[in-house]
Order: sequence, then structure tokens, then C-alpha cells
Amino acid sequence: MWSAVALALIFSVAGAQEGTNAIYPARFNTTAGFEPYLNSTSPQCVTLMPSDAVLTLDYGTETTGFPFFSVQDISSAVQIESKYTEAQAGLDERFGDGPWTFANGLSNTFRVETFNVTETGDHQSFFQQGGFRWQSLTLLGDTGNVTLCGAGLKSYNNHSIDNLPGSFNSSNTVWNEIWALGARTVQQSCIANGSAPSTWEVVSTGSDAGVLLRGQQPAQSVHGLDLADYTMSFSTKIVRGGTGWKVASDAHGYGPYFVLTSEYPADSTFLNTNRTLVPPNTLVVGYGYNLVNQTTLTTGPVVQYPVSFDVKEGLWYEISTAINQTGYTITIVDENNSTVPPVFVPLADFGSFTTGTPTQGTWSFGPYQDQTALVRDVQVYAQNGTIIYTNPMNNASVLEEFGVMNNTHNVCLDGSKRDRLVWSGDFVHANRIILASTNEQEFITGTLAYLLEWQATSGPSSGLVTLAPGMGRSSDYAVSFYNSFGLLDYQMLFLVAYSGYYLHSGDMAFLQSSWAQASKVVEALLTVIDPGSGLAVTSTIPGSLFFIGASDGTAPSALLKFSLDQMAILATAVGDNQTASSWTSTAENISEAVNRQLWSDSLGTYAESLASPTVSSISGTAWAIIAGIANQTQTLSAITALSGLRLGVGYKTDSAVDSSNPSVNLSPFLSGFLLESLFISLRDNSAGGSSSTYDNATTEAISVLLDQLWSAEVTQDEYYSGASWEYIFPDGSPGLGLFTSLSHPWGGAPTYVLTEYLLGIQPVSAGYSEWRFSPSVLLNSTSWVSGRVQTPHGYIQGNWTLAGQDLNMNICSPEETSGSVQLPFSVQKCVLDGQQTEVSQGQAFQVDVSGGLCHSIDVVLG
Ligand SMILES: *[C@@H]1O[C@H](CO)[C@@H](O)[C@H](O)[C@H]1NC(C)=O
Ligand SMILES: *[C@@H]1O[C@H](CO)[C@@H](O)[C@H](O)[C@H]1NC(C)=O
Ligand SMILES: *[C@@H]1O[C@H](CO)[C@@H](O)[C@H](O)[C@H]1NC(C)=O
Ligand SMILES: *[C@@H]1O[C@H](CO)[C@@H](O)[C@H](O)[C@H]1NC(C)=O
Ligand SMILES: *[C@@H]1O[C@H](CO)[C@@H](O)[C@H](O)[C@H]1NC(C)=O
Ligand SMILES: *[C@@H]1O[C@H](CO)[C@@H](O)[C@H](O)[C@H]1NC(C)=O
Ligand SMILES: *[C@@H]1O[C@H](CO)[C@@H](O)[C@H](O)[C@H]1NC(C)=O
Ligand SMILES: *[C@@H]1O[C@H](CO)[C@@H](O)[C@H](O)[C@H]1NC(C)=O
Ligand SMILES: *[C@@H]1O[C@H](CO)[C@@H](O)[C@H](O)[C@H]1NC(C)=O
Ligand SMILES: *[C@@H]1O[C@H](CO)[C@@H](O)[C@H](O)[C@H]1NC(C)=O
Ligand SMILES: *[C@@H]1O[C@H](CO)[C@@H](O)[C@H](O)[C@H]1NC(C)=O
Repeated sequence: MWSAVALALIFSVAGAQEGTNAIYPARFNTTAGFEPYLNSTSPQCVTLMPSDAVLTLDYGTETTGFPFFSVQDISSAVQIESKYTEAQAGLDERFGDGPWTFANGLSNTFRVETFNVTETGDHQSFFQQGGFRWQSLTLLGDTGNVTLCGAGLKSYNNHSIDNLPGSFNSSNTVWNEIWALGARTVQQSCIANGSAPSTWEVVSTGSDAGVLLRGQQPAQSVHGLDLADYTMSFSTKIVRGGTGWKVASDAHGYGPYFVLTSEYPADSTFLNTNRTLVPPNTLVVGYGYNLVNQTTLTTGPVVQYPVSFDVKEGLWYEISTAINQTGYTITIVDENNSTVPPVFVPLADFGSFTTGTPTQGTWSFGPYQDQTALVRDVQVYAQNGTIIYTNPMNNASVLEEFGVMNNTHNVCLDGSKRDRLVWSGDFVHANRIILASTNEQEFITGTLAYLLEWQATSGPSSGLVTLAPGMGRSSDYAVSFYNSFGLLDYQMLFLVAYSGYYLHSGDMAFLQSSWAQASKVVEALLTVIDPGSGLAVTSTIPGSLFFIGASDGTAPSALLKFSLDQMAILATAVGDNQTASSWTSTAENISEAVNRQLWSDSLGTYAESLASPTVSSISGTAWAIIAGIANQTQTLSAITALSGLRLGVGYKTDSAVDSSNPSVNLSPFLSGFLLESLFISLRDNSAGGSSSTYDNATTEAISVLLDQLWSAEVTQDEYYSGASWEYIFPDGSPGLGLFTSLSHPWGGAPTYVLTEYLLGIQPVSAGYSEWRFSPSVLLNSTSWVSGRVQTPHGYIQGNWTLAGQDLNMNICSPEETSGSVQLPFSVQKCVLDGQQTEVSQGQAFQVDVSGGLCHSIDVVLG
């Protein structure tokens, strides 16, 4: 039972952050089965006891925040293990669906954490927990009972889908739910300024001055990337379980990871401590990201070196790690100032995992799961004994140095649970999802400005923006340390997001304040056009790559063409017509180069690249259409050719993918571009036709994407998160298994595509001062749609209903705007606001209407 009394306590949790809301589960499960979680009158408390130790909480949809639970009664001190996961199956795994070992994302690295419960009242996690739907609370041990009355989390951004500025509703309930996926995802993945505090705690004075580190992925110093063959020493006091550090690691933390465990005193050791992986009094070493393998984030075999003394908790030890060509020598000075026999860790123990430069790189600190330790007095010596770095670690400046500052920007991450990095290319979808749903534009300007803050201003990457800056990191080290610019099509997608924001918002102030930087991104990208082929290539910028297609290929070239066209519109808006016309003519040349060299009559579609003339791809088709490179004949032919890419519930990325390979997965990110291109074709390519029909191949492809691919995300409760997924296997289950993010804005394109094309409200000029109402009315799956978008002038609200040949459309828009109602075919008859109006046979239907009013348009289709 959960009691109302205890719930009152939840609202008065000490230290609750401004602006947080308590989120409660939708239902909970005990031996009695699932029951709805009632937060009001009915007393609902649950007693966990050794024979009945597990309480499962189901939040219904993705949620993110600081987990808490309220203890009403305990028989004695007890330990509670809390586990988190997006897909239900993660509850059965020892690490939930984690851990997240790629970055310290200002959240809990681990999906399992343990609480020492000695008193009644509220217990809240120190760490923010990234996105999850499921949680279990397990009473550990075989003595003691605990009565919990209330559990949930403190969250920052959680608006009801029914109450957003942008809305979408239709006769197709599955598509409505697909629309909601993106709207939920951006709320869970966009992090408000001030709502992700540091995961490190600086203790500035006293005998424990230093940093207090709870178990988390080690965070790296920005100062050691180029240093090699050094000795790093530090002092550490284990508070619980052990202490952890790295040396010779790259900027992502790949390198040797050392954990020194304590003797595990009975009164401070959690019962779920894995004594096989991290035995007591042991130096435990892995090479890679962590001590465990996680999908593609590998870690070599874990090697254990028992130490020759009892490692006490609560005492300071000095540990030094000396790097030489064959390994690492760890020396520990114990509490009596005696040096215990050093341990040599040979590189050879880790075989092929010691890739890169195992003797060079920076140092970092972070204990393993559920451990806590203090660290101070870090010193780094060169081989000749010269001190090259020293840090007492008791000043708040360490947060900047190690990239774990409080988040001070409004930013959208790639995913709620991981990587929790501000991936620039992913934002292209997040941008328009926000505009179509929450309209929280501070996250758009925040993210765009953050990426521009991370722009390289010198060196070979000058002009390019960092691909995936992390919250808590300082852009002062964008080039010297983080130095990650090379996915060139992500730079283009950044420009598409940047220009798309202006088109939807008309935000001239933001455009003007950021134009000098944004136009430098364009200038940097102009250098990727190969003078010979006229196509986009990676060879001009060393170390660069494309993600969506190949060098000298259709997709990146078409994307570059589109971004130049869009940026030219902005150049005109800021009054730089000369630049605008130069970019437009460059874009035109790319278009010509693509059609001349990459259109393949034998494939009936665009070739992937000059080097792969017989391969076709969904990105190539999508971007050739979106960029306006494909003419009507090419568009319809390319869409017909998509049938060759069918795989399971969707389309494989290109025809060279081996469909029988079990690790192949489908990409909602790329499929999102395809979905938009298909709707663009519906909107534009029957123009002038007299019969009101759509191209069959196009409607079929739309149906594959919405009725199969995206519907897989809403129809399977075992995986359902209410949010959009990162990858999908051909059978419709999450790609990459439990590791896959089930709340990834890059997979949420249907939210804006349904609003802009199925409902059909689109900006024509900046900020919707001119708009178009151009619904896609002939898909069999919907007979009516209604919805709205918020513009700087006010709401534009529309709906349409098709009954037989009779189509009724209604559109209301603010003053200061004007619009055009369009269909891609001619109609028999039109009644506008009760007045019969003339229609032109053989021409696409269009009536222009004024803003400030509601208009009703009844047409009879041909
Ligand atoms: C519900 O709880 C019972 C008792 O702990 C457990 O056996 C069962 O597996 C749980 N079901 C789910 C779906 O978590
Ligand atoms: C409590 O539950 C009711 C009914 O589900 C809901 O309307 C209300 O918002 C909830 N209150 C809180 C504080 O979550
Ligand atoms: C735990 O609760 C059960 C059921 O109420 C009771 O039988 C048992 O004595 C309790 N154990 C303790 C240690 O309080
Ligand atoms: C970081 O955030 C925490 C919690 O909001 C706050 O107590 C602390 O003062 C902040 N630290 C800095 C350096 O801003
Ligand atoms: C739990 O906290 C109590 C009170 O501080 C302490 O005595 C006990 O050792 C702790 N247990 C663990 C496992 O940390
Ligand atoms: C402990 O760790 C070992 C090695 O990683 C693993 O095989 C084992 O399953 C773990 N045990 C538990 C109970 O998690
Ligand atoms: C990770 O997997 C590789 C094999 O793919 C294995 O060699 C290595 O020992 C594993 N590491 C851990 C920590 O289990
Ligand atoms: C590295 O240090 C170890 C331990 O002192 C030593 O045995 C080994 O020979 C050294 N390797 C080199 C290349 O100096
Ligand atoms: C260990 O050495 C430090 C620094 O030299 C000194 O302050 C401390 O008192 C010594 N501790 C013991 C137990 O001798
Ligand atoms: C010692 O090594 C450091 C780093 O390699 C170097 O900068 C310094 O000049 C060296 N000092 C002497 C005295 O050789
Ligand atoms: C720039 O181009 C726009 C649109 O083509 C035009 O209205 C404007 O007058 C031009 N401005 C200048 C300074 O030529």
C-alpha cells in the first residue's frame, strides 16, 4: 500500500531543486501483480521482506531525473538495490540496460545503485538517472524488512502530450501515438540550464579537502593528452569499496583503468558487491572504457593483482602509476608511510585492446559502481623527475579541467540515457520536433549557440563545430583536447537545423548574433567540394568522414546542396545578397554534378557514389528529393526503386548491406529523411494532374515507414518507452539490444513530418508570415487530421476531413500572416467560406487566404 501521509513527505524533500516536479510511476508490481500507483487517497505502501524482496515500478513512458523513495518503517538498517532500464528485459540483467561507459554525461554511469537505509524518510540518489521506463527496488540480505510508501523521481521537463503548443490528432490512433514519440523524446533529452549538476563534489577545506567521487565513469583532465611515459601520483581515501583512476587515456577515456578495492569491512560493504569482479584488497585492471564490455565499447580482460596488505577505508594512501613501454608500475604508500612492493601491470596482459598509444594520454578519476573515494594532491612527473603537473584538487576549477561542471546551457542531447552528448547532426531532427510540439525554443537557440561556442577558430578544422560536445565541458579546450570535428555531413546537418530554425521562428535577433560564426561553417564546407567531380568529398580535410553516405556520393553532395540553398536564404535575410548568390550558384553546380554523374538509368535511381555505381541508398534518395535535385521523373523512379532496399519492418540503409547479417539494423535517423522526402513528393509531384490519386510506390513506402517501422515503437509493450528509438532490428525489436537508446530525438522525425505534411501546415517565409496549408489527404490510413503549430504571430490551427470525394478543410491563422491552401491536383468544385469559387481544371488546386480569420474550404475531388 502507498500512503497519502508518506507522499506528503515527498514534497518536502530537503535540497529539492528549483523547478523540479515529482514524477510517480503509473503502476507497480509486487507478488500481488500490477496495481495502478495511486498518489492520493488510498494508502498504498509496500513492505519488502526477504521472502518478497522486489518492487517493480513502471513509469509507463520514458522519464529522467533524480530517483527517490520514501521509507515509512524499517526493522533494522537495510540495503536496497535500485535498478533502471528502458526496455523491461533490462530488469533481469545484472547491470540493467547499462552501464554507459562512453562519457561522464552528468548522470549516473550505472543503471544499478545501492542505498544504505538506516532511517525513515526520503532517500534520494546523488546522481541524476538518464532515461528509463522501468525501475526495480530490491531489498538485499536475508534479515530485515522495509516499508516503502512512495517512490518516484525529481524531473525537470515533463509536459503532458495533450497540452503542448503544437498538437496533432487524427483518425489513425497509431499515427497519433507515433507523433507523440518525438514530443516526449525531446522533453527527456533536452536539459535545461542548471538542471544537471556536477557529478563530482569538491571539498575545499578541512582534512578531507579534495574531490569526493562516487562510482562513475572516470572524467579526464584536459591537460595530459600529449604527455607520455610519465608517473602520476595522487592521494586517495576510500570511503566505501574502492578508488579508481586512469592514465595514458585518450580524450574519450579509452586506456588502462585501475581500481583499488578496500578490505571490505562488514559494516560498510554492500551485500551486492561483486567479489568475483572486484575482490577485496585487490588492484583490478581493465584496458578500454571500464571493467565491463558494453556493446561496441570494449574493455580487455580484467586482470586482478592482490595487494600485500589490508586496504583500509577512511585512511589516506598515496598511489603512483608509472608508465613505461611495457606496462604500468603501481606503487602504494600505506598509512605508515611504508611503500608496499610495487605491482607491475604488463601491457601484454591486454593483448589487442591496447590500441593507439598505450603509453601516452591523460589521467582521470572515477571509482567503480557503488564505490566512493576522495582524491587529492595529484602530481605528474616526467621520466627525468621534473614535476610537470600538480593539483591539490580542492578548488572548483577541477570541474572545468575534468569536464564535469554544472550544466549552464539549454541543450538537447542525442539521447536521454546515452550518449548524453550534444551530437550536432542528431539535432537536425530534434530542432523540428521541438518546433512542432513543445516549441521550447530556448533549447534550440541554446543548442545551436552551444555548438557554435565549440567552433574551431584556427587549425585544419577552422570554421567547423565540435561534433558532440558534452555538458559540463569547457569549449576553451575544443581544439586542444576534445578535438572532434571530422564528420563533415554533421556540419551540414547543423546548418540545416540552424537555417530551419530561422525559417520557422523568424528569429532575426538570433540570426544576427550568430551569423558571423554560422557563415564560417559554410565557408569551411565549401572546401569539401572536389574540383574534379564537383561532388562532396572527405579527402580535402584530413581525418574526416561522412556518416550518411560515401565520399563523391549522392547523399552528402545533395545534403551540401540543400544546406547551401538554405543558408543562402539566410544570407539574403541579413542583407548579404552577394554571398547568397554565390552559395546558390555553388548549390546549382552540385545539383548538376550529381545528376550528371550519379543518376543511374540502369538502377532507376541515384548511385551511392562514383566508386559504388551499382549501389543505392535511402539517404541518397531522400536527400536528392529534399534538395530538389531529382526532377519529377527521377523522384518517382527513385521511390519505386526503394523496393529493392526493403528489409523486415523497413528499409536497409543501402543495397550493399547483407540482409542476412544478424547484426544489421535499420536507421530511424536516416528513415526520417526518407519519410520527409516521400511526403515532399506527394505534395509536389502530382502537380497539374487532373486525377486525385497518389503515386502507389510513394504511398506504399510511407506505409512501410509508419505502419511497420515506427509502429514497432508503439505496439510492443516489452520495449515501449513512449519515445523514439535509436536503431531497430529488421524484426521490429530495438537494434543494438538493450544498449540502444529508446529515447533518441534522431529517430523522431514523424512528429514534424506528420504536422508539416499530413496535417500540412508549413512556413513559406520566415516565422510563418507566409504559410502553406497543404495536407496529404489521400492516404488510406487517415480520413481526418487536426492540429496546430505555434508561430511568433500566434497559433495556426487546421483540420481536414475527407468523406468520399468531399474534402472539408479549415484553417485559422493570426493577423500579420497570409497563407495559401494547396492540393497537388485539380478539384471539381470549391466553396470558400460559403462562397462558390472558380477552379481551374488541369491545374493544382490553390486558394490564397488572409490571416486573422478562420477559413473553411470545401472541395469536391475529381
Ligand atoms: C511482479 O512481481 C513478482 C513478484 O516479485 C515477480 O515474480 C514478477 O516477475 C514481477 N513481474 C514483472 C513483470 O516484473
Ligand atoms: C496524482 O494522481 C492524479 C490522478 O492520476 C493526477 O491527476 C495528479 O496529477 C497526481 N499528482 C501528482 C502530484 O503527481
Ligand atoms: C518482516 O515482516 C514479516 C511479515 O510481516 C514478519 O513475519 C517478520 O517477522 C518481519 N521481520 C522482521 C525482521 O521484522
Ligand atoms: C552546481 O550545482 C549545485 C546544485 O545545484 C550547487 O549547489 C553548486 O553551487 C553549483 N556549483 C557551481 C560551481 O555552480
Ligand atoms: C549504513 O549507515 C550506517 C549509519 O551511518 C552505518 O553504521 C553502516 O555501516 C552503513 N552501512 C553500509 C553498508 O554502508
Ligand atoms: C560478478 O562478475 C563476474 C565477472 O564479471 C560475472 O561473471 C558474474 O556474473 C558477476 N556476478 C554477479 C552476481 O553479478
Ligand atoms: C570483452 O569481450 C572480449 C571479446 O570480445 C574479451 O576478449 C574481453 O575479455 C571482454 N572483456 C571483459 C571485461 O569481459
Ligand atoms: C617497465 O617497468 C617494469 C617494472 O619496473 C620493468 O620490469 C620493465 O623492464 C620496464 N620496461 C621497460 C621497457 O623499461
Ligand atoms: C607520513 O608522511 C607525511 C608527509 O611526510 C607526514 O605528514 C605524516 O605524518 C606521515 N605519517 C606517518 C604515519 O608517519
Ligand atoms: C625533463 O623532462 C621534461 C619533459 O619531458 C622536459 O620538459 C625537461 O626539459 C626535462 N628536464 C631536464 C632537466 O632534462
Ligand atoms: C537582395 O535581394 C533581395 C531579394 O532578392 C532584394 O529584395 C533586395 O533588394 C536585395 N538587396 C540588395 C542590397 O541588393
